[in-house]
Amino acid sequence: MPQENEFPVMKNDRLLKAAWGQEVDVVPVWAMRQAGRYLPEFREERAKCDFFTMCQTPALSCKVTLQPLDRFPLDAAIIFSDILVIPQALGMVVEMRAGEGPVFPAPLREPEDLAKLGSPADVCSKLQYVFDALTLTRKELKGRAPLIGFSGAPWTIMAYMIEGKGSKTMSLAKGWLYKYPEASHKLLKIITDATVNYLVGQVKAGAQCLQVFESHAEHLGPELFRKFSLPYLEQICNEVKERVAKAGLKDIPMIVFPKGGHFALKDLAALKYEVIGIDWTVDPALAREIVGPNKTLQGNLDPCALYADKKFIDNAVKEMIEKFGRNRYIANLGHGMYPDMDPEHLAAFVNAVHKYSKKGN
Ligand code: CP3
Repeated sequence: MPQENEFPVMKNDRLLKAAWGQEVDVVPVWAMRQAGRYLPEFREERAKCDFFTMCQTPALSCKVTLQPLDRFPLDAAIIFSDILVIPQALGMVVEMRAGEGPVFPAPLREPEDLAKLGSPADVCSKLQYVFDALTLTRKELKGRAPLIGFSGAPWTIMAYMIEGKGSKTMSLAKGWLYKYPEASHKLLKIITDATVNYLVGQVKAGAQCLQVFESHAEHLGPELFRKFSLPYLEQICNEVKERVAKAGLKDIPMIVFPKGGHFALKDLAALKYEVIGIDWTVDPALAREIVGPNKTLQGNLDPCALYADKKFIDNAVKEMIEKFGRNRYIANLGHGMYPDMDPEHLAAFVNAVHKYSKKGN
């Protein structure tokens, strides 16, 4: 485990400050999927190698994590990896297919299939490559910005393990919630335990902030969310914080991002996550009213606004900052970037955040 003093001194920690609710000089900004195919230098690396091989090679993961920071004055780096490394570490095969995205050749079909999964206690030994990538990247960042680690939330991971690929309806995975509630909770518990181990390992390796992606919240609605998502999100936050403290490490801010989960904001505000991410369908003023003054909000420009011209983007960012305010706020898109976006338009987004959030502006 690297010691804190092996890492470079932070030159820019405004993302961490905003997460803790401290005052910042300008609003921090980053973008989900900021390391990805919209960058020609990423496509060049990707053309040489398989997606998961890239994730598994710390020098490559580090290289592509830093690419967007070399281009834009971003206030955070997010480690290049994927949420689906957890099902892999539990023994499932996941392939990344061109034009199709992630595919599980043998998804979970029946509750009996749970017996095939490995133990959550063993995931860290299988994911050492992520920890190595984090340690290397934290050093190579040279304090330019904090390094974010991440995982999928249990329901989102469960949905992939059962559907075996993306799905418009999630009917197979939701079918489990109604047909096999006990087996569903058993699976969610396995994923939760694995995720806690994994996220604690990420902090030990040098992650300075953690984001938990509940990308499929929209399929649940308030009732299923309370049963099958919220308790596990709570357990992850509480246990990660407890175990980080027990290891003698500094508390780290945690972000929860419930994509499509506008109905869940009040419940999530009762948990210990410092930051709640919102997508573009949520009005910032309403989100603030619901979560109260003691949470940081993150978001929420419609990623497709990056298809507009730079003048439009500049103005949209100005309005976004007026709505969120400068305090307890981290600027981001409302979901990830797409491969056909113009990098210069992300530059317009990032620059506008800093321009319009300067004090006295
Ligand atoms: O820059 C970053 O944000 C860090 C890297 C990152 C990736 N995936 C790289 C990636 C992160 C944080 C993720 C998280 C992730 N992965 C999520 C949660 C965020 C969200 O989008 O809601 C989900 C649901 C996944 C699963 C996943 N991985 C899908 C559905 C896909 C296919 C969609 C696509 O964009 O093609 C991936 C592939 C993936 N993950 C790519 C990248 C750069 C593209 C794959 C490629 O290069 O072929």
